[in-house]
Amino acid sequence: MNITVSAPGKLMLLGEHAVVYGRPCIVAAVNERLSVTIEEIDEGKIIIDAPQVKDTRFVDAAIKTWGDGRGLRISTKSTFSGKYGLGSSSAVTVATLKALKPSVDNRTLFDAAYRIVFDIQGKGSGFDVAAAVYGGILYFVTGGKIIEQMKIDSLPLVVGYSGVKADTVTLIEQVVQKKKENPQKVERIFDAIAKLVEEAKANMLESDWERVGKLMDFNQEYLRDLGVSSDKLEQLISAAKSAGAYGAKLSGAGGGDCMICLVSEDKRKAVEKVIQEVGGEVVDITANAEGVRVEQ
Ligand code: PMV
Repeated sequence: MNITVSAPGKLMLLGEHAVVYGRPCIVAAVNERLSVTIEEIDEGKIIIDAPQVKDTRFVDAAIKTWGDGRGLRISTKSTFSGKYGLGSSSAVTVATLKALKPSVDNRTLFDAAYRIVFDIQGKGSGFDVAAAVYGGILYFVTGGKIIEQMKIDSLPLVVGYSGVKADTVTLIEQVVQKKKENPQKVERIFDAIAKLVEEAKANMLESDWERVGKLMDFNQEYLRDLGVSSDKLEQLISAAKSAGAYGAKLSGAGGGDCMICLVSEDKRKAVEKVIQEVGGEVVDITANAEGVRVEQ
């Protein structure tokens, strides 16, 4: 047996943090992929060659789940750098599981991969796992209670990397603390985020990017209130808006990684330019990529 499976990375569009607490979010699979090749070798032997994956516990756990004691050589390749926070852990978990059991259906795959990621990280909504499995642009509720494919052709997106690696687990923990200190306020913020996610969902289906941009701005204000933004992200976000973006926000846990904004095509170049001028790196990425797939 020799099989290669690839899974896409992801970008959170709206609803981060609130989605850890039962609210919805909107996530996009991106056109950068991580692939896993599995070859059967002598029984009992496991060889893992995964230079792009900083934590091989995800691969180990996938083998434990569906490896059935087979001897395996597993190697990974990725078209994206782990530094951007595009979800290499969930992509490698999903791709490895699918390579071990190619006939698995998406729901079973999601559940198995989410269990692995949750057990290792101890936290997380599973939105990244859903993007890797299903692809496209998803309306997603915590733990996969709802996973709904949104019919959107393309997203006028610009992505800027802040140059700072974010630590998702630490930021989730910060929000836990904030919620302990001020539960009512934080619950109110989560409810407000949930509301704007619902509105954005409807506006995205109508390609009303101007309105979705405004909702991104509101979402960013709430994330700032939660204390997960950073000076660098704020700098990139206000630069993008000053160059005419419809709206801009951080994407993911915050503290670093990437910011995203929506732009009209005539403003795209100007927005990219100012992001670079304030020290950001424009990441060449498109949303709405295909979910996990067997390559050969
Ligand atoms: O940092 P990222 O891109 O993995 O995003 C984390 C998003 C959170 O909502 C904070 C956590 C989660 O699992 O939903």
